[in-house]
Formats: sequence, C-alpha cells, structure tokens
Amino acid sequence: MSVSPFHVVVLPGDGIGPEVMTQAMRVLDAVRPHLHRPVEVEECWIGGAAIDRFGVPLPQETRDACLAADAVLLAAVGGPKWDHLPVSQAPEAGLLGLRKAMAVFANLRPAVVYPALADASPLKRERVEGVDLLVVRELTGGLYYGPAGRKETPEGEPFAYNTMRYTRSEVRRVAQAAFEAARQRRHHVTSVDKANVLEVSRFWREEVTAVAKEYPDVALDHLYVDNAAMQLATRPGQFDVLLAENTFGDILSDEAAAITGSLGLLPSASLGKGARGFYEPVHGSAPDIAGKGTANPIAQILSLAMLLRYSAQEVQAAEAIEEAVRQTIAAGYRTPDIAQSNETAIGTQEMGNAILDALASCYPSA
Ligand code: IPM
Ligand code: MN
Repeated sequence: MSVSPFHVVVLPGDGIGPEVMTQAMRVLDAVRPHLHRPVEVEECWIGGAAIDRFGVPLPQETRDACLAADAVLLAAVGGPKWDHLPVSQAPEAGLLGLRKAMAVFANLRPAVVYPALADASPLKRERVEGVDLLVVRELTGGLYYGPAGRKETPEGEPFAYNTMRYTRSEVRRVAQAAFEAARQRRHHVTSVDKANVLEVSRFWREEVTAVAKEYPDVALDHLYVDNAAMQLATRPGQFDVLLAENTFGDILSDEAAAITGSLGLLPSASLGKGARGFYEPVHGSAPDIAGKGTANPIAQILSLAMLLRYSAQEVQAAEAIEEAVRQTIAAGYRTPDIAQSNETAIGTQEMGNAILDALASCYPSA
C-alpha cells in the first residue's frame, strides 16, 4: 500500500536561518526511516533573501506552496540590510503575511528549563529549576494587523497610529487553544491583559472568562501584563499556560525564553483550525553572528520536533528528537549562547553532530 507523502515547505530565510535549518534537515533525514509516511521537502524563499531575489518578502510562489503544504518550517527573517525598507515591504512583512494567510492564530511557545542549563539562566538556579511553561500567543490579530497609518492633525502635525482590536471569535478560538493545551499539562491558564486601562483588554478578559466555563477542570486567573512581566522574572515556576494577545505575547515569550538561559533553545508551533501548522524558532535571524557557524540549532531542531508531533502525528519521532536534545545538553555540549565561562563552546555543525549521535542511540539499529 502506498501512502501519500507528507509535504513540508522549508523556509531558511535570513541571517543564521540557513545555518540552523541545515542542521534541522540533517535531523529530519535521520528520522525519515522511522516515520509512518514519506516526507517531501520543498525549499522556498522568504524575507530579505526573497527581497534580494524577487523584490518582495513573500513571493506568490512561496505563499502558494505554503498554503498547499501539510506543514511549514521557517528559520528566521530580517537583518540590517533591509532595515531601511518601509514596514510593508520589509522581511518581517513576509512572515506576518504568511501567518495571516495560513490563519495560524494560536502560537504555542513552550519554555522549559533544562536542569543542566539552570546556571545559564540570568535568574538564580532555585528560581528557574523546574520551570515548564507554555506561552499561547494570539498570532493573527491585535496591533500587528489592526488599522494603522500616518496622517496629519487638522493643525498639520504628523502622527502615526496602530489599533489593537479583537473580535469575539478571535479571542475565543485562541482561548480555547490555551485551555486545550492546559488540559494536556497542569490544568492552569493565566490570561494576560491590561484591563485596568484598555477597553480591548476588558473585552479580552470577559471573553476568556466565558470560554473558561467550558473548561471547569482548568483553573483560570488573570494578570495585568506589567505584573505578568514582573512575575515571570521573579517567580516563573508559578506558570503553566500563559495566554496573551499578539503584542503582549511577543514580549512575554522573549522574556520567558531569556529565563530558560537562551533564546537559541525555544521552538514554536503556530496552529489554526486544521492540522496544518507553521513552525519556527522564537529567536530571530541574529545578524551579528550570521555566517560564523556558531548559532545554536536547537530551537530549529525542536521546531521540527513540534512539526512532527502536531502536524504529522509522528509523536515517536518528535519524542526521540526531544530526548536526543536533552541528552546532548546533559552530556555538556554547548554552543556559545549557553556556555558558561568555564565551558568549551562548539559550533552549529558540531552541535548538529552531537544531536545526531544521541538520536542514533534513541533509535537502536536492528
Ligand atoms: C517573533 C518575532 C516576529 C514577531 C517579528 C520578526 C515580526 O519577533 O516571532 O516573535 O514580532 O512576531
Ligand atoms: Mn518576538
């Protein structure tokens, strides 16, 4: 019996993107023999690399390929070379356009502190040990996509504006995603808003509270975003699922990443209604270290694991990759971003090698 292949569009993008994606593709090749379906990979252009080649950050071909795919794996977009471009033509516009086109409204960003890396955290070991939280960030609404522009006041003074706006269904569907995720975890959702000031946050809170009624087994509390940022930096262990609108979630997920010890470790999954998903590391294109072969490929590799779990239903392969990463970290392999001063740092390729070796032991050959 032949099974239809699982189709993945791969978008290396800019900066360290291609380097870390190369390692993720090596990992994919290593798990291939163990998958239930063959995986087909199609590489496309996005971001600055697409601007240089085609003049636009999201070429029609890339968009069409992503919409036809079973899953999309992105590395990173952007860099100083394209900073002068207007917002609508910048590399980031390619990423935002793609998220919207794919309608992936729920962005899942797990932040886990590996015991062996607790000392890489800027927080004291005892504060971060055991931290295992999930940021669920709304990804296709809010300030990022609301009415925006530049105008002049009647007196002729220029001004600019963005609008944070959420419909009931936009809030409810991402809240549902957060409650569903909490059911697979420790049954606790903390919803983040600024309801003491913003009308849209009052509405957000009401709608999340309404959704909570369908999940009596999940505890819900609410925090103002400033307090949430403070709590995350002081007592991160209290959180299970943190639910936030787009901009607040963007900020809090970087903070959550930082307390785990490095942005280079965190993957993300963006999901919509069906199984098709969009997967990318939380980190950016890191232009300062691009091309040096020192970037940490772990977030990219773990994003591939999330893809295999959520879109391909290849849970065993996902677990094998996650276990290989844990073992590699426990064995002391460190890229510069997670190396302490007394530890020797290795490069992107060596980290890939170490993970592949560990993976081989997770899959004993017959
Ligand atoms: C992220 C990034 C993006 C965002 C940028 C690159 C547009 O910071 O994925 O968190 O703000 O969503
Ligand atoms: Mn961000």
